[in-house]
Amino acid sequence: MPIPESFLEELNARTDIVDLISGYVSLTKKGNRYWGLCPFHSEKTPSFSVAPDKQMYYCFGCHKGGGAIQFVMETESVSFPEAVAILAQRAGLPMPETQGQGDNRKKRERLYQLNKAAARWYHQNLLSPQARVAQEYFTRRGLSKRTITNFGLGYSFNQWDGLIKAMSEQGYEKQELLDAGLVVKNEKGHIYDRFRGRVMFPIIDLRGNVIGFGGRVLDDSTPKYLNSPDTIIYNKSKNLFALNLAKKSKRGMIILTEGYMDTIALHQAGFDCAVASLGTSLTPDHARMIAQRTQEVVISYDSDAAGVNAAQRAIQLLNKTGIRVRVLKVTGAKDPDEFIKKYGAAAFQKLIDGSENHVEFRLLQVKNKYDLSEDDQRVACIQELAQVIARLPGAAEREVYGTRMAKELEITPDTMLREVQRCQKRQLRWEEKQQARKVLQPVQMNQPENRALRYENMRSGKAEEGIIALLLNDPGLLANTKGLSPEDFSVPLFGRVYQMIWERWSEERPVSLNVLGPELTGEEMNHLASILQNPLSQTNRERAMEDYINIIQTERLKGGNQAGVDDAALMAYRDKKGMEEPT
Ligand code: CTP
Ligand code: MN
Repeated sequence: MPIPESFLEELNARTDIVDLISGYVSLTKKGNRYWGLCPFHSEKTPSFSVAPDKQMYYCFGCHKGGGAIQFVMETESVSFPEAVAILAQRAGLPMPETQGQGDNRKKRERLYQLNKAAARWYHQNLLSPQARVAQEYFTRRGLSKRTITNFGLGYSFNQWDGLIKAMSEQGYEKQELLDAGLVVKNEKGHIYDRFRGRVMFPIIDLRGNVIGFGGRVLDDSTPKYLNSPDTIIYNKSKNLFALNLAKKSKRGMIILTEGYMDTIALHQAGFDCAVASLGTSLTPDHARMIAQRTQEVVISYDSDAAGVNAAQRAIQLLNKTGIRVRVLKVTGAKDPDEFIKKYGAAAFQKLIDGSENHVEFRLLQVKNKYDLSEDDQRVACIQELAQVIARLPGAAEREVYGTRMAKELEITPDTMLREVQRCQKRQLRWEEKQQARKVLQPVQMNQPENRALRYENMRSGKAEEGIIALLLNDPGLLANTKGLSPEDFSVPLFGRVYQMIWERWSEERPVSLNVLGPELTGEEMNHLASILQNPLSQTNRERAMEDYINIIQTERLKGGNQAGVDDAALMAYRDKKGMEEPT
């Protein structure tokens, strides 16, 4: 099943990472590194670097990093084996067909073909005279012939085995139909078509493969929509409906909707940048995929309570990616589809032009939480609003929103602004602490919420970083780590990596960050990449190793010394910056 490591080594040797990344980012050489604008977060000055000697990239802004395979995984949103396949093709290396691997690939290929054949069949059904009801349904919903063709929409007749028969004739096995989620098996072992009497929406991935379907009833029966289950080629939390079309849009934004019909109606009205999540709320993977393709997203969810809630969650996820997030207020219609039908495309464009930035949306959400006729609730609401406003970067912004909220809550603008200032001070104090933490700990931990990456003991953690960096550079130094065992590491990730290095080394398998890739999560990879950015001492690595091991063992004996930011460190930091303690 796994790709042989020797192949990965060969692949890495044949891939010039600077050349690879130049295809995505414009790089300029400075010293022994190349620099460019980070493809993973939005920025104006380059903090993304490529080190040809290490064959690695690392962004000092968003702390993403890794090797060539990781880069392709991130930028193309593909899995590890898929990234390897892409790089292999680029390097002109034939993929090794290990037994399981080859089988798996063939199986996926078959399922793509089967899904494509099924989509064709559903589409042909829709065009046939017996599908009048479905044609009328789409007409009633305002879809043109062109839209139906563009999206490859179809119809499944109300039969138990229509698809089974048609696909069997084309040589597909029952098991393959099951694997594709196109049929269902009942308790007695009989199989029947999953989609019956439904209009069909094929789901297409970024490379144009049909990977699944959504099917909608023509009336009010339930379930309204039925979707393909997750299969070996379809994962609903990693795919967005119509992203294959939206990625070609010139509008410079992505409009995010909740439903198939919303997205289709938007495309038909000329908003070719619309996408929908598929019967699930937005996931971090979705957010990442969007952020990789655009600098701006406009959330256009349903106007009901569920839609507003979903929008809030989506805002949080999308904000983390650093792209611009706006929220569209669809009034006078329950969803974008209905809005376009009632008011037309020009009106929708106006909505986009005037769409709320997420500040307004946030403030509105806060206000809606409270019953403002109650005094105590009004006070609480004012405080929470002040917190939101205090986080705004510009003084003018704070003044504008502060004054507006003061009016709405019937207090003087002065009181509101004082409240905002109080929150600002509190936030400043907090940020200072964070800043001091960074000074003490130059390599920032990307995901402190991840337990595997948390440093319970900073001194030990730093020494462990040193050991791992030394070993990844020169595994021969393992000879100098006698007596050190994985359990000695206070950071679980480092213990694991240490063990992996040992195992590989003792079996004479290659050791490098790249070959460890498949056993690491993306976050772990980023973190290890960040550690490798620290310059290694060129001389006396044995001595360095000895020192690190000493530190680890002493800290272990001391036991659980929680090295956070203590007040002394904070004061030293303030001293250095000539800061006064905020009041
Ligand atoms: N959905 C689903 N299963 C359901 C209902 C909804 O998977 N039983 C998903 C579908 O992806 C749907 C989306 O949630 O597109 C939004 O649902 P809803 O707002 O009810 O659907 P609309 O897109 O507005 O559908 P329509 O206009 O056809 O009624
Ligand atoms: Mn709808």
